[in-house]
Amino acid sequence: MKKISFFLFILSLSSLVIAQPKHDDIINACSACHGLDGNGISEGIPNLWQQPEAYLKAQIEAFRDYTRINPSMDAVSHELPDADILYAAQYYSKQPDSSSRSKEQPQLQWRGDKWPGDMMLGEKIAYTGKISDKIQACVACHGPSGIGVAPFFPRLKGQDKTYLIKQLNAWKTADRPPGVMGVMVSIAVSLTDEEINAVADYFANQGEKK
Ligand code: HEC
Ligand code: HEC
Repeated sequence: MKKISFFLFILSLSSLVIAQPKHDDIINACSACHGLDGNGISEGIPNLWQQPEAYLKAQIEAFRDYTRINPSMDAVSHELPDADILYAAQYYSKQPDSSSRSKEQPQLQWRGDKWPGDMMLGEKIAYTGKISDKIQACVACHGPSGIGVAPFFPRLKGQDKTYLIKQLNAWKTADRPPGVMGVMVSIAVSLTDEEINAVADYFANQGEKK
């Protein structure tokens, strides 16, 4: 009997020693929806890989502080300590571009080589903006092909299309806070449903296998 309890004591001691650091519990919780590699597990869940760390941190804080509202995120972000938020932001920003649609990367495009008249609607908005409404090209801030520009301009390339559409509409209806510089509100308001669909489709498919 003594032997068994001693054995159990050693066992519990060793499990204490090899237990994961607490931070990894956070990633396990997030991975239920965002995957361990930062790929959303289903439609509407954003891919987090290679998003700028400062951008991710600001968004998680916004969910925690109820300025950005989403039922799935509220449940996990409420009362998250700063250290865990920083850890999760660092972890996901470092995950490689691993989505199946990004195995073969096309060359980054600035589109100086193409006339706007030769572009489909989504590509045209991405590279020329909407001149009639004085809206700048999306790539001016989000980088060529929408790769994202640290610290605060998120990657749009390879992002889930449904998610992108939802975000642009959320700014239209004031359901997402204006964010850094507050620029996205007027941009989203100026876009029609057709334009939102087209530009979301364009960026979601950047990095798609050709
Ligand atoms: C139950 C599913 C679920 C879990 C678990 C979850 N998320 Fe999310 N997350 C979502 C959904 C859905 C969205 C999109 C919200 C929206 O549409 O505005 C999101 C959005 C985000 C965003 C915003 C991305 C962007 O591009 O702006 C970040 C950052 C994020 N989650 C981080 C995390 C972290 C960190 C954890 C773990 C602590 C986590 N999530 C756990 C479902 C989840
Ligand atoms: C002047 C700079 C600027 C321009 C131009 C711009 N954006 Fe943004 N965009 C931002 C910033 C800054 C954010 C982050 C907002 C935040 O902090 O919540 C953002 C965020 C976004 C997001 C949310 C991404 C996510 O992961 O949740 C989408 C979608 C988006 N922009 C689409 C567009 C589209 C489409 C265009 C072109 C029509 C565009 N943006 C033009 C600065 C810009």
